[in-house]
Amino acid sequence: MTDLPAVEGLTLHSTNESSKFPNCYPSLNPVDIYREHIAEKLGAATGIDAEKIYARLQWTNTLDKGDLVLPVPSLQIKKNPAELCKELAEKFPESDLVQPPTSFGVHLQFFFKPQGLTSTVISRILKEKEVYGTNGNQGLRDPSDPAKGKKKMIVEFSSPNIAKPFHAGHLRSTIIGGFLANLYTVMGWDVIKMNYLGDWGKQYGLLANGYKHFGDEQKLLQDPINHLFDVYVKINNVVAEHDAPIKELKEQIKAKKEKNEDVAALEQELAKLVEVSEDEKARRYFKSMEDGDEEALALWRRFRDLSIQKYKQTYARLNIDFDVYSGESQIKNESMAAAYKTMEEKNVSEKSDGAVIVDFTKHGAKKLGKAIIVRKDGTPLYLTRDIGAITERDEAYHFDKMIYVVAAQQDLHLAQLFKVTELMGHKDLANRCQHVNFGMVRGMSTRKGTVKFLDDILRDVGDKMHEVMKKNQEKYEQVENPEQTADILGITSVMVQDMTGKRYVSFLFCMDLSRLY
Ligand code: ARG
Repeated sequence: MTDLPAVEGLTLHSTNESSKFPNCYPSLNPVDIYREHIAEKLGAATGIDAEKIYARLQWTNTLDKGDLVLPVPSLQIKKNPAELCKELAEKFPESDLVQPPTSFGVHLQFFFKPQGLTSTVISRILKEKEVYGTNGNQGLRDPSDPAKGKKKMIVEFSSPNIAKPFHAGHLRSTIIGGFLANLYTVMGWDVIKMNYLGDWGKQYGLLANGYKHFGDEQKLLQDPINHLFDVYVKINNVVAEHDAPIKELKEQIKAKKEKNEDVAALEQELAKLVEVSEDEKARRYFKSMEDGDEEALALWRRFRDLSIQKYKQTYARLNIDFDVYSGESQIKNESMAAAYKTMEEKNVSEKSDGAVIVDFTKHGAKKLGKAIIVRKDGTPLYLTRDIGAITERDEAYHFDKMIYVVAAQQDLHLAQLFKVTELMGHKDLANRCQHVNFGMVRGMSTRKGTVKFLDDILRDVGDKMHEVMKKNQEKYEQVENPEQTADILGITSVMVQDMTGKRYVSFLFCMDLSRLY
C-alpha cells in the first residue's frame, strides 16, 4: 500500500523531535500540529505571544463547539473580551489546516479542515504501523534516579476463581486490565501482567473430595473448567443435604437448653453427624493441603494446572497473555506471619474474641470499619493473603506502580489492604498501588440461562455475530473465513461495548450486536 500524501503545511516530526512549545508532541498527537499551527499564525498576525496562545488553546467538550477553542479572557489582555475575540477572528490569516475561526461570545472556535487530518493520520498509521502513537519516553525514569531505565509496573487483572464461574466481572477486569497493560507498554513502561487466581481455601478440599465421587478423568482432560464446576455444584448439593439435619439438631439443642433440659445425647448425635459431613471432610482435606501433604496437593495442583492451560487458550482469543499466574495459594505462610508480627508490634492489630482483627476506626479510618486478619482457628483470610502478596510482590519486582483491576464491589477490601499496608509502616508502597475499579455488567447469561464461563460468552457473541452476518447474503459471501471473522467481530464488540460507557458505571450487556456490524 502506498502512503497517502501529507498535506502541505503539515510538517511531520520524527518521534524524538521536540516542539518549541512545552508539552507539545506533534509526532505523537496530530492535534498538537494544529495547536502549534494556530498559535504561530495567530501570534504572528496579532503580536500576542504564541506560547501564551498555545497554552490557552483547549479541547472542546463537544465537536459542535469546534475542535479547539481559545477562551479569550484567559489571554488576560486589557480589552473587552468579546470585541477582542471578533478582532482575533478577523485577523487570523487563511490556512490550509483550519477554517476561518468563529467568534462565539468570548470563545474563539477553530474547526479543522478534515482532509489534512485524515490523510496525515492515516498515512502515518500505515507507515508506522504498531509503533504509531507510542511514546517510549513516558515510561523512563528521571535521569537523576539511580535505578535508571524503564519504570516497572504490575497490572493485576482477570483473577478468576478455579472451579467457579468466570463471571462478567472477571471479563471486565480482563478487558480493562489488558487495555491498561497495552497502554503502559506503548508508553514505554516495563509491564508485568499478573493473574491472581482464587485457588486456595476450604472449597478446594471440597472439590477434591467431590472429585472422588463425581469426577471423570476424560471430562477433566477435555474441559477442565466446566467439569470442575460441575463437580463443585454436585458436591455442594451434598453439603446442603448434610447440613439440613445438622441445623435441625442445633435448633433442637438450643430449644432444650432454653428449657434447661439435658442435651448430652443430642450433642453426641450432632458430633457424629458433623464428623461424617462433607463440610468437615473438606475442612480436613484442606488442612492436609495447608500442612503440605503431597498427595492432597497433587490433585489440587492438577486441577490448577489444567484450568490454567485452558484459560490460556481462552485469553489468547482475546489477544491477552499473562506473564505470571500467581494466586492465593502462592502466598507464603512466612510472609503472612511476618505481617502479623509487624501489625502486632505497631499496634495495628488487636485480639478480639480469639481472633486477630484490625479496627480501622481506631486508626483514623472510620469508613473502613473492622477486618478480621486471623480467624479463631488460626487460619488467614482473603485480606490476609493480599497483605502477604503486596509485600512479596514489592520484594520480588521492585515496582514503581501496581494496579489492581478489580470490581467496585471490592472497594472496601482494597481500601483496607492499602490502609493496613500504610499502617504497617509501608506508606510508600501503599502510595505506589492503585485500585482501578469498575461497575457491574448486568444481563450476561448464556442463552440456556445457565452460568457463564468466558468461553461460553465468547462463543455466544461469535454465534450471534455469525447470525447477523448471514442476514446479508451478498456481503456474507465475500467474507473469506466467516466463522473466524464472526469470532473476532464478536470479541471486538464485547470490548467496544465495555469501553463505550464510563468505567465505574454499571451497564446492561446487550447481545444484539448487529448495530456494530
Ligand atoms: N479472585 C477474586 C474474585 O474473583 C479477585 C481477586 C482480586 N485481586 C486481589 N488481589 N484481591 O473475587
